[in-house]
Amino acid sequence: MSQAQESEVFEPEGFMDSDVSANPQPYYRRAQAEGAVVAGTFGPQVVRRSAVEYVLQHPEEFSSAMQAVDLGQSVPLIPLQVDPPNHRNYRRLLDPIFAPRQMNLLEPDITRLVNERIDGFIDTGRCEFSDELAVPLPSAVFLRLVGLPLSQLDLFLSMKDGILRPSGSDLDEIQASQKVAARQIEEYFAEVVKERKASADAQDDILSLFLTSEIDGQRLTVDEIVGICFLFILAGLDTVTDSLECFFAYLAQHPDQRRRIVDDPSIIPSTVEELLRWESPVTAVARTAVADVEIDGCPVSKGSSVGVSIGAANIDEDALPGAFTVDLARNPNKHLAFGGGIHRCLGSHLARMELRIALREWHLRIPDYSLAPGTELVYQAGLRQIDSLPLVFAAPGSQG
Ligand code: HEM
Repeated sequence: MSQAQESEVFEPEGFMDSDVSANPQPYYRRAQAEGAVVAGTFGPQVVRRSAVEYVLQHPEEFSSAMQAVDLGQSVPLIPLQVDPPNHRNYRRLLDPIFAPRQMNLLEPDITRLVNERIDGFIDTGRCEFSDELAVPLPSAVFLRLVGLPLSQLDLFLSMKDGILRPSGSDLDEIQASQKVAARQIEEYFAEVVKERKASADAQDDILSLFLTSEIDGQRLTVDEIVGICFLFILAGLDTVTDSLECFFAYLAQHPDQRRRIVDDPSIIPSTVEELLRWESPVTAVARTAVADVEIDGCPVSKGSSVGVSIGAANIDEDALPGAFTVDLARNPNKHLAFGGGIHRCLGSHLARMELRIALREWHLRIPDYSLAPGTELVYQAGLRQIDSLPLVFAAPGSQG
């Protein structure tokens, strides 16, 4: 156990500590006892809910365009690295495409994809949840959304991993392998877009919608479409994977809570919200102060990289009474797991649907499960990915 996890006092390095990430809520509470803004390893960290909301809602003071996410890509991450006023143009175009009504059309396909995954392991009575469900599901959904064949899943997973889980023993090697993957992804999507442009048939997918969309009378360029697809890969795959991992790790270890879902599946939508709040799989986002500013009386100098702790804001008892209790029926539940302000998650409806369907279909078929004996879960910091999540359960037909 690391010092930051063990300590009763607040330790700045805890934000990047994987032991803390396994059980972050007490650490967040220690940070909040220090003030609204605390020191982190890479700069100030905003930890109280009101201050987190302030930063997210003031992009003119806290820019996300200046946040260097240097993954070697040659196009900006649209719309995340775009500040106002241009940001609004992109969201106006993208919001209807990701609206609940559009996303609901995917429900039958996502239900089928989840069940196909479960079919693959249910008879064995065990699964490596990450490899067999949490990792492939969001990528398979993404291919469906973009209109690419499922046969490309392995290629797609390897390109995604090149960016999000790069190999390499030092920073130079890691960045070099990310650059190769970034180039591969850009070329892949540029090719797909060109092919789609050349084809006479419009298809029922978002790439076809992008091709006919306009901002101020101008069609999106190939570079813009590639920039959007690139951000979807960064923002929409591991986030869902990590949420699934955090949710199922929690439920595997809390049989009473799991029983509530099995007995009354109508609480699945509120369960999704509550576990997003409690687990906060995306622990934080980053901004850059564009001038010397104050956050809740704390001076922050121009150019500082400001960490915005979504995880801490979500358990702030001053803003949400009972925040330290997990209540799967909580309603309303105004959590910030999808961020806030103008950059609030574009894919929240899609993410919610994937999580809801996975919980529903899994618990219909596998109501009782637990961590494989001897498992010690290892969580990454930042995005709370779990390295390995082996689950065991009674295989159908194995009882009685
Ligand atoms: C449970 C899963 C997800 C979580 C927890 C999550 C969380 C977040 C958060 C916290 C932000 C704000 C980033 C910031 O302010 O810097 C964000 C933005 C974003 N997310 Fe998600 N996300 C999830 C799934 C998805 C999915 C499935 C997509 C697919 C399209 C997606 C696309 C985006 C985009 C494009 C943005 C940037 C929006 C903008 O800048 O206007 N996300 N997400």
